[in-house]
Amino acid sequence: MKIGFVGMGVMGRAMVFNLIKANINVTIFNRTKEKCLTSIKAGAKLAQSSSELITSSDIILTCVSNSSALEDIIDSGSINCDHISSDKILIDCSTISPSETIRIASILKKKNIDMLDAPVTGGEIGALLGNLTFMVGGKRKLFDKIKYLLDIMGETIIYAGVNGNGQKLKIVNQAVCAINALAVAEGLTLSKKLNIDLDVLYQLLSNGAANSWMVNDLINRLLQKNRQPGFTIKLFEKDMCIVDEELKRNNLTLDGLTTAHNLMRKAVSKGLEGFGVQTLSEAL
Ligand SMILES: NC(=O)c1ccc[n+]([C@@H]2O[C@H](COP(=O)([O-])OP(=O)(O)OC[C@H]3O[C@@H](n4cnc5c(N)ncnc54)[C@H](OP(=O)(O)O)[C@@H]3O)[C@@H](O)[C@H]2O)c1
Repeated sequence: MKIGFVGMGVMGRAMVFNLIKANINVTIFNRTKEKCLTSIKAGAKLAQSSSELITSSDIILTCVSNSSALEDIIDSGSINCDHISSDKILIDCSTISPSETIRIASILKKKNIDMLDAPVTGGEIGALLGNLTFMVGGKRKLFDKIKYLLDIMGETIIYAGVNGNGQKLKIVNQAVCAINALAVAEGLTLSKKLNIDLDVLYQLLSNGAANSWMVNDLINRLLQKNRQPGFTIKLFEKDMCIVDEELKRNNLTLDGLTTAHNLMRKAVSKGLEGFGVQTLSEAL
């Protein structure tokens, strides 16, 4: 099986690293070439274009910002459908809306490529440690065929049903994460006013009933005086737009999610979009 991976961002780079460590030969492509260097050094081969990668791989993994990035990749001119065998599979690990996923899966089907939506949770640290959680939508027999790859990059692999169901699960996950991130930002703001040291606060939150993945990841980054992503506020705000889309589609208004989204919009307007989610409290 020839394996290709498009998107050497924070997540893609780390996921490829684990595939290489497991002795999988991987060909990679990224629009910005410099981001391929560490993966090439680790043993990945470089494709000159995403269409070259797609045409020459049996299984293509993608992990890119959003649906328009994914469309740019699959539209990129010259995918030669004549040379595409009927068992080519694209596994999209990006977070995009369920409806866009279903639309893109049908575009790919016309190019003779089957798609699985397989968004992830667990952050940069989960991608580096190979203990991500995958939520997979698409045909069960395709899932069974490619699961060995997800097992290398993740620890919990959930089969969610038809195309789009992986992304539906992911968006609920993001809704819960957003409220968590809001709680951390507001807790930090309150504790500053009460003159509580960050390391003392962390000692409590990481051991008590308020503990969560978000508490550990965000406060640890702040303890290291690290404002870099992890997960950018820009990408989180993009996810909240998808959450909003689903709320509207289902005639729901949920106040906590509205507040969390407003805080992310405010952070973006304050120029924090490229920083990690740990900087959200700077927008309060
Ligand atoms: N970071 C996390 O903690 C995390 C956790 C779970 C899920 N996710 C999801 O995983 C996906 C990737 O996240 P990330 O943190 O790795 O993002 P990132 O570091 O910002 O990387 C984004 C990737 O998308 C590529 N891209 C963007 N627009 C493109 C276009 N028009 N054509 C081709 N490539 C394009 C970028 O290429 P360039 O380098 O050329 O810009 C880069 O490889 C996102 O959907 C995100 O929501 C992230």
